[in-house]
Amino acid sequence: MLLELTPDELLSTTRAVRKRLDLERPVAREVIEDCLRLAQQAPTAGYSQNWHFVVVADPEKRAALGELWRSVAGPYLERRPAPDRQVRRIGDAVRHLMAHIHEVPVHVIPCVAGRTEDKPAPLQASRWASIIPAAWSFMLAARARGLGTCWTTFHLVHEREAAELIGIPYDEVMQAALIPVAYTIGTEFRPGRRKPLDTIVHWDAW
Ligand SMILES: Cc1cc2nc3c(=O)[nH]c(=O)nc-3n(C[C@H](O)[C@H](O)[C@H](O)COP(=O)(O)O)c2cc1C
Repeated sequence: MLLELTPDELLSTTRAVRKRLDLERPVAREVIEDCLRLAQQAPTAGYSQNWHFVVVADPEKRAALGELWRSVAGPYLERRPAPDRQVRRIGDAVRHLMAHIHEVPVHVIPCVAGRTEDKPAPLQASRWASIIPAAWSFMLAARARGLGTCWTTFHLVHEREAAELIGIPYDEVMQAALIPVAYTIGTEFRPGRRKPLDTIVHWDAW
């Protein structure tokens, strides 16, 4: 079932959801597949379609991935100063997700074929951009269906261990993120706070 959201509402209310993930409600395989079919409409460099999505629903594998995630998130939270309320709020949310990451019913790991370590920057940019738009489309499609997601990269510090755990061929495939997916508790989300447009937009010259 789709939420009643205009395209602009969808684009402005697809938040990083950490505290409002419903850990009890199962997520059907078909819903994930619908979102992934939409994700496949995203662009890839040279029509390569060299993307892969690993969907992890198995509780033991989620627990093991959760351990890797936590081993990076914990020290990150300790290191990070919390100068203002907004940063403290995000820290609290990350701490909450850290405690529950293994309970989130589905983890989605977007991947792209072809490692780019030591490759020139234009090639790196093309490779990453062949998976990131698709992954964001997946997250938008999920939001449209009442699901919450959060782009996370903590586990990538242990990408090789994660690859071994799930059987991803590490030498040939790069992982871009780990996206926890669950129904949200309530479906109302507000636009996030962002810098004024004129501080980031440069017309005709920087
Ligand atoms: C490249 C990238 C890496 C991120 N890594 C993490 C992460 O490891 N853990 C996490 O909880 N959130 C992570 N985030 C989520 C961001 O903190 C979040 O998208 C941002 O704060 C926007 O939040 P909002 O949707 O509430 O405005 C990451 C986001 C991006 C784009």
